[in-house]
Amino acid sequence: MNGPKSESTSGLAFDIDRDHVGWLTFDRPDSSANVLTPALMKELDALLSQLESRIANGQILALVVHSAKEGAFIAGADVQAIADLSTAAEARAASAEGQRVFRRIERLRVPTIAAIDGACMGGGTELVLHCDYRVASDRSATAIGLPEVKLGILPGFGGTVKLPALVGMQNALGIILSGKPVRPSRALRLGLVDRVLSTARFTTEVRQFVGDVVGGRVEKSAPSLGFGERLLERTGPGRRIMFGAARKRISAEAGPFYPAPYRAIEVLAGAVGMKADDAYALEAAALGELAVTPESRNLVRLFQLSQGARKALPEDVANRGRRVGRMGVIGAGVMGAAIAELAAAHDLPVVLKDIDRDALDAGLRHAGDLLRKAAAARLFSQEEASLKFALLSGSLDYADLADADLVVEAVVERMAVKQQVLREAEDATSGAVLATNTSSLSVDGIADSARDPASVLGIHFFNPVHKMPLVEVVAGPRTGPEALATGFGLVTALGKTPILVADKPGFLVNRLLAPYLNEAGFLLDEGYGVGAIDEALVSFGMPMGPLRLLDEIGFDVARHASREMANAFGDRMRPSGVLDRMMEDARLGRKNGLGFYRYKDGREVGPDPSVDGMFSGGARLAAVPALSDSPDDVIRRRCLYAMVNEASHALDESVVESPDAVDLAMVLGTGFPPFRGGILRWADAEGIQTIADALSQYSEALGNRFAPAPLLARMAEQNRTFTHTT
Ligand code: NAI
Repeated sequence: MNGPKSESTSGLAFDIDRDHVGWLTFDRPDSSANVLTPALMKELDALLSQLESRIANGQILALVVHSAKEGAFIAGADVQAIADLSTAAEARAASAEGQRVFRRIERLRVPTIAAIDGACMGGGTELVLHCDYRVASDRSATAIGLPEVKLGILPGFGGTVKLPALVGMQNALGIILSGKPVRPSRALRLGLVDRVLSTARFTTEVRQFVGDVVGGRVEKSAPSLGFGERLLERTGPGRRIMFGAARKRISAEAGPFYPAPYRAIEVLAGAVGMKADDAYALEAAALGELAVTPESRNLVRLFQLSQGARKALPEDVANRGRRVGRMGVIGAGVMGAAIAELAAAHDLPVVLKDIDRDALDAGLRHAGDLLRKAAAARLFSQEEASLKFALLSGSLDYADLADADLVVEAVVERMAVKQQVLREAEDATSGAVLATNTSSLSVDGIADSARDPASVLGIHFFNPVHKMPLVEVVAGPRTGPEALATGFGLVTALGKTPILVADKPGFLVNRLLAPYLNEAGFLLDEGYGVGAIDEALVSFGMPMGPLRLLDEIGFDVARHASREMANAFGDRMRPSGVLDRMMEDARLGRKNGLGFYRYKDGREVGPDPSVDGMFSGGARLAAVPALSDSPDDVIRRRCLYAMVNEASHALDESVVESPDAVDLAMVLGTGFPPFRGGILRWADAEGIQTIADALSQYSEALGNRFAPAPLLARMAEQNRTFTHTT
């Protein structure tokens, strides 16, 4: 939105128009987003002094807070500033300072109106909460949220005080504890905004609204609560039930690992009936404590790593990328259909091709179902879903791929088939980038069939595509910069986080998972039960245990992958034999309802007791007395140390650029617990020397699959860590 504005260095400008309306404009130089840096907050504070005197002089009748960036309001506080906070006292002071500045806005003696067009997050939301009125555009990017819990903190610029007052405690709990943004239509229903305005006529409609406010034609209404809500919110016992239920929900969803939402509930509950000054102080104290917890440090680091991942290519390579305006997907199976849906969901025209009519129809149906589910989950509206659906077409004919800028193949995992498909795709298109979704074959081997191997790269999506945020972008030795940059850019445009990996077996994620899953098999074979093994890793924070994960992957697929890994890496990936035995017993995992777990109506109903009996046991870890404290510890160490060790091998072979990339990939690609910061951040906390020593002992007692990787041994010797610890 273009209000009149004056020059600004840190991104803030102020002007008064001829109707005596003041326009406070956020416009961070050289950036597509506005961020509330400490410098900007200082400037805002100074500007408020000026404003107060102009208001006192009668020069201003109303104040509008807006952004000059079309479709981007204020993205939040400066995450680096949060990372830089070194003590709880410092964090508490930073919070109190932000509160003080925003409360000055609240006290201005003219009506204040926030005009929100685009994402309004974190500190941005807290700013608008201190205005008298909020209007939002109906743009699809417009959303209002408080995502602080996702960084392990809570809103610290007055959000916990102002939000419940505006939308009621139940709604405030939902918004603050989920961290999820609220779209304009819901914000209107909640009373979070006063009007939703047309994006196309936003400036005009804002001016009209301001005129109505100044003319006294806008009524402020309190949140309208039903009888039940009033009972919950306005009575002591009701509130106890409400906060208790919130605690239960958090515990069920996130377990005990994340302190921030629990602390947020305490703050919200504690502030009920408090004077404003005390409530603000309570919030600042809690923010101070949370900002320096290891959980918050780890979450902030991962957030920064994921932001940085999109800019991982050197500029001279990134500049060579072409925009993909049309995409082809070959193979309409599980992966191909989901990749095509992802493209359509991101407004990219896409042709899905198969050789089999039935497979194609099933793939198109699957893609359509995913789009409908996304619409049902309100990721977009029904109308938007129909437009997106129209971008998706199916074909049995290569001619329909002719205009594609990039084609990704997701056909069966066989070298000869993939080579042929790639060559056919190359012949059908003119200069398209050719991507393979292979999970275990050599990208360079597949590229052998292409006339121009420089146009070939790997784009390795994870299953289920619509849920998994990570994509491995594989640069083969002959992959050219155009292909690499185009593929990388596409992955980002599809809303995924790309991680650049070398063309080595298993790339990064599957390679690190292999010894972890394998070790769970060895443990089972030694007599540790299915339940015990999985529980040890779930209580560590893994989203599911390794055996449950094998059920999901399917034993045929997992066994094939583990054999490939053993072929590539030899002894240290030698399969445990457990999957062979499971398959001899006609078990395939979840897909045939027979795995390590039992399934009823498609739902898992606990470990299958007959499985433990299939494995003899007896050779427990007694052989390593020094390390055999509790079975839980043994299980965790063996599985996770094996993963750390493999990460060291992979780093030594430059599979990825840095330990940071390993951490980000394992969190986004496997659900490694974010609060632990990633496998290597966790390894640092555990102690590199401890891990190296344990591996040596395991190696003696259990086999040389545990032999410490040279890099790990060197690091232990030199007392180094993988990551910068704070
Ligand atoms: P799928 O078996 O579900 O689908 C393969 C599809 O390719 C079938 O519809 C088949 O008719 C079609 N097809 C076979 N030959 C073809 C040809 N010459 N031209 C056009 N279509 C052809 O396989 P899925 O699971 O979707 O896997 C596809 C690829 O993705 C494989 O390379 C796999 O390794 C990889 N991948 C699979 C993951 C998974 O979890 N399923 C995860 C990541 C990658």
